[in-house]
Amino acid sequence: SRYDLVVVGSANADLVVGVERRPAPGETVLGSDLVVHPGGKGANQAVAAARLGARTALLARVGDDAHGRLLLGSQREAGVDTGPVLVGGAPTGVALITVDPSGDNSIVVSPGANARLTPQDIRAAAPLFAAARVVSVQLEIPLDTVAETARALAPGTRLVLNPSPPAPLPADVLAACDPLVVNEHEARYILGILGQEAGDTPEEWAGALLGHGPRSVVVTLGAEGALIADSRGGGGVRVPSPKVEAVDTTGAGDAFTAALAWRLGRGESLEEAAAFAVRVGAAAVTREGAQASYPTAEEVGAP
Ligand code: RIB
Ligand code: NA
Repeated sequence: SRYDLVVVGSANADLVVGVERRPAPGETVLGSDLVVHPGGKGANQAVAAARLGARTALLARVGDDAHGRLLLGSQREAGVDTGPVLVGGAPTGVALITVDPSGDNSIVVSPGANARLTPQDIRAAAPLFAAARVVSVQLEIPLDTVAETARALAPGTRLVLNPSPPAPLPADVLAACDPLVVNEHEARYILGILGQEAGDTPEEWAGALLGHGPRSVVVTLGAEGALIADSRGGGGVRVPSPKVEAVDTTGAGDAFTAALAWRLGRGESLEEAAAFAVRVGAAAVTREGAQASYPTAEEVGAP
């Protein structure tokens, strides 16, 4: 294949302000100076994979504006093929992010151009899908576009889906995932939509989700690492994360998912790929920003 990873997804300018605590409704708080970082779950994944050495392309839509140029610049600097990125139709997506002293973030996304990435744009990119070993997608673009992406896969191409922010997934999309990558919140949301009792443990969430079609499931557990499970069974396997001092967790999940997708495409098992991905995610939380914080393969001590 020409590409180890094709990412279909969002690109946002992240407007980040540090806060001591978040304001309650009706309240005003003062924060730190504003920092603008390139972000968006799709753009983040593409940069994370390329920085690790994956041959990566991004299919996204940005505005014809300064934020769009910031995003394209960051992709190119990381070595991502930006040929498929579409420009115009609406302003570039923006994410309003507050980061608190523990490194946790809260995010509001204004989709802008991301909402104009259409199923037609996916169909027009057929040659790209034919050249992809793995395709990765998230939910900051329209659900119809995600569904069209699942249909566009060439035989043998693997789909990795992170349903973030969570939305009801069509059954054929769920069934195409290998793996579905969820955190606790996303797992509970999807099981809730499916009318299923979620249970209390990642093992239970993974087992219940597998019953709805995905070939494999990864539950991310933050500082605890991840749980992997597939239909071959058992209750899943826990993959612990290295312990690190968290500075900014923004986009760490995107780095994890990109690393996982790349390694799966290289033929590693889900457990091997997840063991690599938790190291990439952990490295990303030790630095500010999303894309700016992603490690090279050398930094995480990997070939
Ligand atoms: O996952 C982190 C990302 O979520 C940020 O970069 C922000 O743009 C939002 O999309
Ligand atoms: Na970070």
